[in-house]
Amino acid sequence: MNSPANITDPLVLFMPSGKRGRFPIGTPVLDAARQLGVYVESVCGGRATCGRCQIEVQEGNFAKHKIVSSNDHISPKGPKEERYERVRGLPEGRRLSCSATIQGDLVVDVPQDTVINAQTIRKAATDRAIERNAAVQMCYVEVDEPDMHKPLGDLDRLKAVLAKDWGWKDLRVAQHLIPEVQKILRKEKWAVTATIHKDMEFSRATLIALYPGLKNEAYGVACDIGSTTIAMHLVSLLSGRIVASAGAPNPQIRFGEDVMSRVSYVMMNPDGREAMTKAVREAVNGLIGEVCEQGGVDRNDIFDSVFVCNPIMHHLFLGIDPTELGQAPFALAVSSAVQGWTHDIGIEVNRGARFYLLPCIAGHVGADAAGAALSEGPHRQDKMMLLVDVGTNAEIVLGNRNHVVAASSPTGPAFEGAEISSGQRAAPGAIERVRIDPETLEPKYRVIGVDKWSDEDGFEEAAKATGVTGICGSAIIEVVAEMYLSGLISEDGVVDGALSARTHRIIENGRTFSYLLRDGEPRITVTQNDIRAIQLAKAALYAGIKLLMEKQNITGVDTIRFAGAFGSFIDPKYAMVLGLIPDCDLSEVKAVGNAAGTGALMALLNRDHRREIEREVSRIEKIETALEPDFQQLFINAMALPNKVDPFPRLSEQVTLPPRSAVSEEGGSVESAAPRRRSREERAARRGRS
Ligand code: FES
Repeated sequence: MNSPANITDPLVLFMPSGKRGRFPIGTPVLDAARQLGVYVESVCGGRATCGRCQIEVQEGNFAKHKIVSSNDHISPKGPKEERYERVRGLPEGRRLSCSATIQGDLVVDVPQDTVINAQTIRKAATDRAIERNAAVQMCYVEVDEPDMHKPLGDLDRLKAVLAKDWGWKDLRVAQHLIPEVQKILRKEKWAVTATIHKDMEFSRATLIALYPGLKNEAYGVACDIGSTTIAMHLVSLLSGRIVASAGAPNPQIRFGEDVMSRVSYVMMNPDGREAMTKAVREAVNGLIGEVCEQGGVDRNDIFDSVFVCNPIMHHLFLGIDPTELGQAPFALAVSSAVQGWTHDIGIEVNRGARFYLLPCIAGHVGADAAGAALSEGPHRQDKMMLLVDVGTNAEIVLGNRNHVVAASSPTGPAFEGAEISSGQRAAPGAIERVRIDPETLEPKYRVIGVDKWSDEDGFEEAAKATGVTGICGSAIIEVVAEMYLSGLISEDGVVDGALSARTHRIIENGRTFSYLLRDGEPRITVTQNDIRAIQLAKAALYAGIKLLMEKQNITGVDTIRFAGAFGSFIDPKYAMVLGLIPDCDLSEVKAVGNAAGTGALMALLNRDHRREIEREVSRIEKIETALEPDFQQLFINAMALPNKVDPFPRLSEQVTLPPRSAVSEEGGSVESAAPRRRSREERAARRGRS
């Protein structure tokens, strides 16, 4: 036991946490870290054999902290540390904090190996480090040999030493381990590594796995189960390193494109729920196999897992019937975080492994939105942040540290290219960028997989491999916005037929007109119906956002984050011209990639983040757009480009918007088109017809 610190004791500052304290000379750096609550890994319990407790001394005069830190202020390497360096190697400048002791003032860096890089998050705004405090810990102990005079069982002596060396009191033991304990203890002469799981502060710790000798690795998976795609990271729980990442299509697509059609499938097929649960679990198991193979990891070394998903995926993954989510009041079977044994949900990893599902915010705002909120942290800042995840159902979170509100809005599949005459998913050959010359009204475009614009020499040649197959979501936004900016459509979204006198690209189709984007095979046009579909989708999203802004009593937002794949591709300028998002400084609009997946990773590596999001979700005010009387009017206003009533002053500074005219009174017909969640009967009828 160290003697209490006093004012003349050396001052030690830990980075990056910034925690500091005074400790008597001779205190092991690891002990100082523990006392301050700085997380430093240790598997061997300070025996200088696992190498997990590495730190670095930062040298220099840290005037702000009144610390002059030097390698002379830490003890020289002793025999144990030298032995470790000789046998295993230590990187330059690294020390084992269990062996090194404090000899003077120090600034100590705890290296964070967890960096989420550009590979794992597309267009991430910043790389970030996640401080570790995993729910799983590996604890090496040497158990007393049996003694005839002290008839304490093998398992009881193991528990006693885990309490003595590691402080695990009142330890539970996973039932499946009990028959194995004696054999494992004897294999390496009573030296074992215990895998302990403890999530909440007040929950009991559980012995979930046991290995002979020193077991110096433990892994976890963070998984985002989307309706279309499942994405997974395999992570070392001891270093925080992302070992491998992979994605796969969600096989439930064969039961229905979007989540609502999957609910309909469950309603219409007695074994529908079971089939979809089986399909998604098999896909998750397949992905685990893939990431393990990529990373050279045995799936039995995976002890923890965190999942995020929308409410319907959440229910199907857990084996819960999602029918209630298909109709008002959209009741979740369970909204709080769910934890359990992976074995019980058919996930094939270590027999003792655990899972954690983030809480759902509301019936249509799921654990994925909670993950994105955890990642982007509107609740951690003063700025008013709008976080949008656009899919067939847009999930919207708006707030700052004072108050956060959330809602979903049924945007439908138009942004993903469905319901658009030439629409398609983002894939090679899809048009992804569009520009229209306001003078000539001639378009140019780029397709995925080809570098050149369509008006550049060699484009046709370069596009031969992929073809030009359709328009994906990002281009649909751009083409409608460009048509508006070049005067081809009015602010009501009506194609101006009179322009057919000026350009052959305006084509008459009975009572409406289309714009010819590409004359060739296939012929790609933007029809009046396409524009209407985009207007409906964007109006649904904007009305949802506006409703939340009204709840917050604000007229503008400070910063906007687009989560999800769609957000990674759309140009914020065009999204704003279209009136998809409210006016905001364009430099404050950022795509953050799979923020839900990042949230899962944070919850996997640090259980404090689990508590953080559980707390926040209980504080978030949930708004059901369908029940809000203002929604219809906001929706009608949002049908106009960019909006019938809202000004876009910051956008106007960067883009010349067409002058506003008196908006035609189409209110009645527009109102009848306002989105709502379809009833069970309608969906069943639609499925029956298809
Ligand atoms: Fe294992 Fe320091 S705690 S080497």
